[in-house]
Amino acid sequence: MGSPTLSRSELARAWRVGILAWMCAAPAAWAYDFLGAESCQSCHPDAWATWKASPHARAKDVLSPTQQRDARCLSCHSPNDVDQKQAGVTCETCHGGGQYYSPRYIMKDAELARLAGLVDPTEKACRACHDASSPSLRPFDFASRLKAMDHWSVERAKRKEQSSSRAPLPARGPSPTFGEYLEQRGSSLVRR
Ligand code: HEC
Ligand code: HEC
Ligand code: HEC
Ligand code: HEC
Repeated sequence: MGSPTLSRSELARAWRVGILAWMCAAPAAWAYDFLGAESCQSCHPDAWATWKASPHARAKDVLSPTQQRDARCLSCHSPNDVDQKQAGVTCETCHGGGQYYSPRYIMKDAELARLAGLVDPTEKACRACHDASSPSLRPFDFASRLKAMDHWSVERAKRKEQSSSRAPLPARGPSPTFGEYLEQRGSSLVRR
Protein backbone atom coordinates (compact mmCIF):
# COMPACT_ATOMS: atom_id res chain seq x y z
CA MET A 1 0.00 0.00 0.00
CA GLY A 2 1.45 3.38 -1.02
CA SER A 3 1.01 6.15 1.49
CA PRO A 4 -1.24 8.95 0.16
CA THR A 5 1.25 11.83 0.19
CA LEU A 6 0.62 14.86 -2.00
CA SER A 7 3.21 17.21 -3.45
CA ARG A 8 2.93 20.94 -2.83
CA SER A 9 1.61 21.62 -6.33
CA GLU A 10 -0.93 18.82 -6.05
CA LEU A 11 -2.13 20.35 -2.84
CA ALA A 12 -2.41 23.78 -4.44
CA ARG A 13 -4.49 22.29 -7.23
CA ALA A 14 -6.77 20.40 -4.89
CA TRP A 15 -7.25 23.63 -2.95
CA ARG A 16 -8.36 25.61 -5.99
CA VAL A 17 -10.63 22.87 -7.29
CA GLY A 18 -12.08 22.75 -3.78
CA ILE A 19 -12.80 26.49 -3.87
CA LEU A 20 -14.51 26.12 -7.24
CA ALA A 21 -16.62 23.20 -6.07
CA TRP A 22 -17.64 25.19 -3.01
CA MET A 23 -18.70 28.14 -5.17
CA CYS A 24 -20.57 25.91 -7.60
CA ALA A 25 -22.61 24.61 -4.69
CA ALA A 26 -23.77 28.19 -4.05
CA PRO A 27 -27.18 29.44 -5.22
CA ALA A 28 -27.41 29.18 -9.00
CA ALA A 29 -28.01 32.82 -9.83
CA TRP A 30 -24.41 33.88 -9.02
CA ALA A 31 -26.00 36.60 -6.92
CA TYR A 32 -23.69 36.45 -3.96
CA ASP A 33 -24.27 38.06 -0.60
CA PHE A 34 -22.97 41.55 0.06
CA LEU A 35 -20.56 42.14 2.91
CA GLY A 36 -20.93 45.95 2.93
CA ALA A 37 -18.61 48.75 1.81
CA GLU A 38 -16.86 48.74 5.20
CA SER A 39 -15.63 45.22 4.52
CA CYS A 40 -13.71 46.53 1.48
CA GLN A 41 -12.38 49.55 3.38
CA SER A 42 -9.72 47.65 5.32
CA CYS A 43 -7.89 46.60 2.15
CA HIS A 44 -8.97 49.43 -0.22
CA PRO A 45 -8.85 52.53 2.02
CA ASP A 46 -8.27 55.01 -0.84
CA ALA A 47 -11.04 53.62 -3.04
CA TRP A 48 -13.36 53.61 -0.03
CA ALA A 49 -12.62 57.24 0.96
CA THR A 50 -13.25 58.49 -2.59
CA TRP A 51 -16.49 56.53 -2.85
CA LYS A 52 -17.66 57.64 0.61
CA ALA A 53 -17.38 61.30 -0.45
CA SER A 54 -19.18 60.68 -3.76
CA PRO A 55 -22.84 61.06 -4.79
CA HIS A 56 -23.13 57.26 -5.12
CA ALA A 57 -22.58 56.78 -1.37
CA ARG A 58 -25.20 59.45 -0.62
CA ALA A 59 -27.70 58.42 -3.28
CA LYS A 60 -30.28 57.24 -0.75
CA ASP A 61 -29.84 60.32 1.47
CA VAL A 62 -31.05 62.72 -1.23
CA LEU A 63 -34.48 61.07 -1.11
CA SER A 64 -37.16 62.22 1.30
CA PRO A 65 -38.31 59.70 3.95
CA THR A 66 -41.34 58.83 1.81
CA GLN A 67 -39.23 58.42 -1.32
CA GLN A 68 -36.83 56.18 0.63
CA ARG A 69 -39.66 53.66 0.82
CA ASP A 70 -40.62 54.04 -2.84
CA ALA A 71 -39.33 51.11 -4.87
CA ARG A 72 -39.39 53.25 -8.03
CA CYS A 73 -36.76 55.57 -6.58
CA LEU A 74 -34.77 52.90 -4.75
CA SER A 75 -34.24 50.95 -7.98
CA CYS A 76 -31.50 53.47 -8.88
CA HIS A 77 -30.80 55.33 -5.63
CA SER A 78 -30.41 52.26 -3.42
CA PRO A 79 -30.94 49.13 -5.51
CA ASN A 80 -29.79 46.68 -2.83
CA ASP A 81 -31.72 48.28 -0.01
CA VAL A 82 -34.23 45.51 0.49
CA ASP A 83 -32.39 42.35 -0.57
CA GLN A 84 -28.97 43.15 0.95
CA LYS A 85 -29.76 45.94 3.44
CA GLN A 86 -27.19 48.26 1.81
CA ALA A 87 -27.96 51.94 1.37
CA GLY A 88 -26.94 53.90 -1.73
CA VAL A 89 -24.97 52.74 -4.77
CA THR A 90 -22.26 50.67 -3.08
CA CYS A 91 -19.04 48.92 -4.08
CA GLU A 92 -20.91 45.67 -4.50
CA THR A 93 -23.72 47.20 -6.58
CA CYS A 94 -21.03 47.67 -9.25
CA HIS A 95 -18.39 45.03 -8.41
CA GLY A 96 -20.71 42.20 -7.35
CA GLY A 97 -21.38 40.72 -3.90
CA GLY A 98 -18.12 40.03 -2.07
CA GLN A 99 -19.17 36.86 -0.28
CA TYR A 100 -16.68 34.66 -2.15
CA TYR A 101 -14.12 36.95 -3.78
CA SER A 102 -13.10 39.16 -0.87
CA PRO A 103 -10.74 36.85 1.06
CA ARG A 104 -7.19 38.02 0.29
CA TYR A 105 -6.02 34.73 -1.24
CA ILE A 106 -8.79 35.00 -3.83
CA MET A 107 -8.53 38.76 -4.44
CA LYS A 108 -4.82 38.43 -5.22
CA ASP A 109 -5.60 36.05 -8.08
CA ALA A 110 -7.37 38.28 -10.63
CA GLU A 111 -8.88 35.36 -12.54
CA LEU A 112 -10.01 33.43 -9.52
CA ALA A 113 -11.59 36.62 -8.09
CA ARG A 114 -13.67 36.97 -11.24
CA LEU A 115 -14.72 33.32 -11.10
CA ALA A 116 -15.78 34.03 -7.52
CA GLY A 117 -18.12 36.82 -8.60
CA LEU A 118 -15.97 39.98 -8.95
CA VAL A 119 -17.50 42.07 -11.74
CA ASP A 120 -15.74 44.58 -14.03
CA PRO A 121 -18.37 47.31 -14.38
CA THR A 122 -19.05 48.38 -17.95
CA GLU A 123 -20.68 51.38 -19.60
CA LYS A 124 -23.82 49.30 -19.98
CA ALA A 125 -23.98 48.84 -16.21
CA CYS A 126 -23.84 52.63 -15.70
CA ARG A 127 -26.59 53.16 -18.23
CA ALA A 128 -28.93 50.88 -16.29
CA CYS A 129 -29.34 53.90 -13.98
CA HIS A 130 -27.95 56.81 -15.96
CA ASP A 131 -30.57 56.64 -18.66
CA ALA A 132 -33.07 58.94 -20.28
CA SER A 133 -35.36 58.74 -17.26
CA SER A 134 -32.79 60.04 -14.77
CA PRO A 135 -33.05 63.77 -14.04
CA SER A 136 -29.87 64.93 -15.75
CA LEU A 137 -29.80 67.91 -18.07
CA ARG A 138 -26.76 66.53 -19.90
CA PRO A 139 -26.84 63.21 -21.73
CA PHE A 140 -24.63 60.62 -19.99
CA ASP A 141 -21.08 60.83 -21.31
CA PHE A 142 -19.34 57.65 -20.17
CA ALA A 143 -15.70 58.79 -20.46
CA SER A 144 -16.11 62.01 -18.49
CA ARG A 145 -18.50 60.48 -15.90
CA LEU A 146 -16.08 57.59 -15.35
CA LYS A 147 -13.30 60.08 -14.69
CA ALA A 148 -15.53 61.96 -12.27
CA MET A 149 -15.81 58.85 -10.06
CA ASP A 150 -12.14 57.79 -10.22
CA HIS A 151 -11.38 55.72 -7.13
CA TRP A 152 -8.65 53.58 -8.69
CA SER A 153 -5.79 55.85 -9.85
CA VAL A 154 -4.38 56.36 -6.34
CA GLU A 155 -4.47 52.62 -5.65
CA ARG A 156 -2.86 51.73 -8.94
CA ALA A 157 -0.07 54.27 -8.43
CA LYS A 158 0.65 52.91 -4.93
CA ARG A 159 0.68 49.35 -6.18
CA LYS A 160 3.14 50.27 -8.92
CA GLU A 161 5.40 52.01 -6.42
CA GLN A 162 5.35 49.02 -4.10
CA SER A 163 6.17 46.51 -6.79
CA SER A 164 9.06 48.58 -8.19
CA SER A 165 10.62 49.12 -4.74
CA ARG A 166 10.43 45.43 -3.91
CA ALA A 167 13.67 43.41 -4.00
CA PRO A 168 14.02 41.43 -7.24
CA LEU A 169 12.59 37.93 -6.95
CA PRO A 170 14.89 34.92 -7.35
CA ALA A 171 14.99 33.67 -10.94
CA ARG A 172 12.17 31.17 -11.13
CA GLY A 173 9.24 30.69 -13.44
CA PRO A 174 6.00 32.33 -12.37
CA SER A 175 3.47 30.03 -10.79
CA PRO A 176 0.67 29.29 -13.24
CA THR A 177 -2.46 31.39 -13.03
CA PHE A 178 -5.73 29.67 -12.35
CA GLY A 179 -6.67 30.01 -16.03
CA GLU A 180 -3.42 28.38 -17.16
CA TYR A 181 -4.03 25.63 -14.68
CA LEU A 182 -7.50 24.95 -16.10
CA GLU A 183 -6.07 24.99 -19.62
CA GLN A 184 -3.39 22.46 -18.66
CA ARG A 185 -6.10 20.25 -17.33
CA GLY A 186 -8.26 20.82 -20.40
CA SER A 187 -11.06 21.38 -17.97
CA SER A 188 -14.58 22.29 -18.99
CA LEU A 189 -15.40 23.09 -15.42
CA VAL A 190 -15.92 26.81 -15.96
CA ARG A 191 -17.12 26.90 -19.53
CA ARG A 192 -20.88 27.22 -19.62
C1 HEC B 1 -8.42 41.12 2.60
C2 HEC B 1 -8.18 42.24 1.72
C3 HEC B 1 -9.22 42.59 0.68
C4 HEC B 1 -10.58 42.81 0.85
C5 HEC B 1 -11.41 42.63 2.12
C6 HEC B 1 -11.08 43.23 -0.43
N1 HEC B 1 -10.06 43.29 -1.35
FE1 HEC B 1 -10.22 43.83 -3.31
N2 HEC B 1 -8.25 43.36 -3.61
C7 HEC B 1 -7.37 42.96 -2.63
C8 HEC B 1 -6.07 42.67 -3.25
C9 HEC B 1 -4.81 42.21 -2.53
C10 HEC B 1 -6.24 42.90 -4.64
C11 HEC B 1 -5.21 42.68 -5.75
C12 HEC B 1 -4.64 43.95 -6.22
C13 HEC B 1 -3.42 44.30 -5.44
O1 HEC B 1 -2.48 43.50 -5.43
O2 HEC B 1 -3.42 45.40 -4.86
C14 HEC B 1 -7.61 43.35 -4.83
C15 HEC B 1 -8.15 43.73 -6.05
C16 HEC B 1 -9.43 44.25 -6.22
C17 HEC B 1 -9.95 44.76 -7.48
C18 HEC B 1 -9.20 44.82 -8.78
C19 HEC B 1 -9.15 43.46 -9.41
C20 HEC B 1 -8.39 43.43 -10.71
O3 HEC B 1 -7.78 42.41 -10.95
O4 HEC B 1 -8.43 44.39 -11.47
C21 HEC B 1 -11.24 45.19 -7.24
C22 HEC B 1 -12.20 45.79 -8.25
C23 HEC B 1 -11.52 44.94 -5.83
N3 HEC B 1 -10.39 44.38 -5.25
C24 HEC B 1 -12.71 45.24 -5.21
C25 HEC B 1 -13.03 44.89 -3.90
C26 HEC B 1 -14.34 45.08 -3.28
C27 HEC B 1 -15.53 45.71 -3.97
C28 HEC B 1 -14.25 44.62 -2.01
C29 HEC B 1 -15.33 44.56 -0.95
C30 HEC B 1 -16.51 43.75 -1.25
C31 HEC B 1 -12.89 44.12 -1.83
N4 HEC B 1 -12.19 44.31 -2.98
C32 HEC B 1 -12.41 43.56 -0.65
C33 HEC B 1 -7.64 42.83 -1.30
C34 HEC B 1 -8.91 42.91 -0.72
C1 HEC C 1 -33.39 55.21 -13.78
C2 HEC C 1 -32.70 55.52 -12.56
C3 HEC C 1 -33.31 56.52 -11.59
C4 HEC C 1 -34.56 56.47 -11.01
C5 HEC C 1 -35.64 55.42 -11.21
C6 HEC C 1 -34.65 57.62 -10.14
N1 HEC C 1 -33.47 58.34 -10.19
FE1 HEC C 1 -33.07 60.08 -9.19
N2 HEC C 1 -31.26 60.20 -10.14
C7 HEC C 1 -30.74 59.25 -10.99
C8 HEC C 1 -29.43 59.68 -11.46
C9 HEC C 1 -28.52 58.91 -12.40
C10 HEC C 1 -29.20 60.95 -10.88
C11 HEC C 1 -27.99 61.84 -11.09
C12 HEC C 1 -28.17 62.64 -12.36
C13 HEC C 1 -26.97 63.48 -12.68
O1 HEC C 1 -26.62 64.33 -11.84
O2 HEC C 1 -26.39 63.26 -13.72
C14 HEC C 1 -30.38 61.25 -10.05
C15 HEC C 1 -30.55 62.41 -9.31
C16 HEC C 1 -31.61 62.64 -8.45
C17 HEC C 1 -31.72 63.78 -7.58
C18 HEC C 1 -30.73 64.92 -7.49
C19 HEC C 1 -29.71 64.58 -6.46
C20 HEC C 1 -28.69 65.68 -6.22
O3 HEC C 1 -27.64 65.35 -5.65
O4 HEC C 1 -28.94 66.81 -6.62
C21 HEC C 1 -32.88 63.64 -6.86
C22 HEC C 1 -33.44 64.56 -5.77
C23 HEC C 1 -33.52 62.42 -7.31
N3 HEC C 1 -32.73 61.84 -8.27
C24 HEC C 1 -34.71 61.93 -6.83
C25 HEC C 1 -35.37 60.81 -7.34
C26 HEC C 1 -36.69 60.38 -6.89
C27 HEC C 1 -37.53 61.09 -5.86
C28 HEC C 1 -36.98 59.24 -7.60
C29 HEC C 1 -38.25 58.39 -7.53
C30 HEC C 1 -39.47 59.08 -7.86
C31 HEC C 1 -35.84 58.98 -8.50
N4 HEC C 1 -34.89 59.95 -8.30
C32 HEC C 1 -35.76 57.91 -9.37
C33 HEC C 1 -31.33 58.05 -11.35
C34 HEC C 1 -32.63 57.69 -11.05
C1 HEC D 1 -20.81 53.08 -9.76
C2 HEC D 1 -20.00 51.87 -9.85
C3 HEC D 1 -18.85 51.67 -8.88
C4 HEC D 1 -18.88 51.78 -7.51
C5 HEC D 1 -20.02 52.23 -6.61
C6 HEC D 1 -17.56 51.37 -7.05
N1 HEC D 1 -16.77 51.05 -8.12
FE1 HEC D 1 -14.83 50.40 -8.02
N2 HEC D 1 -14.66 50.57 -10.05
C7 HEC D 1 -15.72 50.86 -10.92
C8 HEC D 1 -15.19 50.90 -12.27
C9 HEC D 1 -16.00 51.20 -13.52
C10 HEC D 1 -13.80 50.61 -12.19
C11 HEC D 1 -12.79 50.42 -13.31
C12 HEC D 1 -12.26 51.71 -13.85
C13 HEC D 1 -11.29 51.50 -15.00
O1 HEC D 1 -10.75 50.42 -15.14
O2 HEC D 1 -11.08 52.44 -15.74
C14 HEC D 1 -13.50 50.43 -10.77
C15 HEC D 1 -12.24 50.14 -10.26
C16 HEC D 1 -11.98 49.77 -8.94
C17 HEC D 1 -10.71 49.30 -8.42
C18 HEC D 1 -9.40 49.26 -9.18
C19 HEC D 1 -9.19 48.02 -9.95
C20 HEC D 1 -7.83 48.01 -10.60
O3 HEC D 1 -7.74 47.47 -11.68
O4 HEC D 1 -6.89 48.57 -10.05
C21 HEC D 1 -10.89 48.99 -7.10
C22 HEC D 1 -9.86 48.43 -6.12
C23 HEC D 1 -12.27 49.29 -6.79
N3 HEC D 1 -12.91 49.75 -7.93
C24 HEC D 1 -12.84 49.11 -5.54
C25 HEC D 1 -14.05 49.69 -5.17
C26 HEC D 1 -14.50 49.82 -3.79
C27 HEC D 1 -13.75 49.27 -2.59
C28 HEC D 1 -15.71 50.45 -3.83
C29 HEC D 1 -16.57 50.91 -2.67
C30 HEC D 1 -15.87 51.60 -1.55
C31 HEC D 1 -16.02 50.71 -5.24
N4 HEC D 1 -14.99 50.24 -6.01
C32 HEC D 1 -17.19 51.32 -5.71
C33 HEC D 1 -17.05 51.05 -10.55
C34 HEC D 1 -17.51 51.23 -9.26
C1 HEC E 1 -27.60 51.47 -9.40
C2 HEC E 1 -27.68 52.71 -10.15
C3 HEC E 1 -26.38 53.36 -10.64
C4 HEC E 1 -25.35 52.79 -11.34
C5 HEC E 1 -25.19 51.33 -11.78
C6 HEC E 1 -24.41 53.85 -11.62
N1 HEC E 1 -24.86 55.02 -11.07
FE1 HEC E 1 -23.90 56.83 -11.11
N2 HEC E 1 -25.39 57.64 -9.99
C7 HEC E 1 -26.55 57.01 -9.60
C8 HEC E 1 -27.38 57.94 -8.85
C9 HEC E 1 -28.73 57.62 -8.24
C10 HEC E 1 -26.68 59.15 -8.80
C11 HEC E 1 -27.16 60.45 -8.14
C12 HEC E 1 -26.76 60.44 -6.72
C13 HEC E 1 -27.04 61.80 -6.07
O1 HEC E 1 -26.81 62.83 -6.69
O2 HEC E 1 -27.45 61.78 -4.92
C14 HEC E 1 -25.41 58.94 -9.54
C15 HEC E 1 -24.44 59.91 -9.69
C16 HEC E 1 -23.29 59.74 -10.46
C17 HEC E 1 -22.29 60.77 -10.65
C18 HEC E 1 -22.31 62.16 -10.02
C19 HEC E 1 -23.24 63.03 -10.84
C20 HEC E 1 -22.64 63.37 -12.15
O3 HEC E 1 -23.24 63.03 -13.18
O4 HEC E 1 -21.56 63.97 -12.16
C21 HEC E 1 -21.34 60.23 -11.49
C22 HEC E 1 -20.09 60.92 -12.00
C23 HEC E 1 -21.74 58.88 -11.80
N3 HEC E 1 -22.93 58.61 -11.13
C24 HEC E 1 -21.05 58.01 -12.63
C25 HEC E 1 -21.38 56.67 -12.85
C26 HEC E 1 -20.62 55.75 -13.68
C27 HEC E 1 -19.40 56.11 -14.50
C28 HEC E 1 -21.22 54.53 -13.58
C29 HEC E 1 -20.81 53.22 -14.20
C30 HEC E 1 -19.45 52.78 -13.95
C31 HEC E 1 -22.37 54.69 -12.69
N4 HEC E 1 -22.43 55.99 -12.28
C32 HEC E 1 -23.24 53.66 -12.33
C33 HEC E 1 -26.87 55.70 -9.85
C34 HEC E 1 -26.06 54.77 -10.48
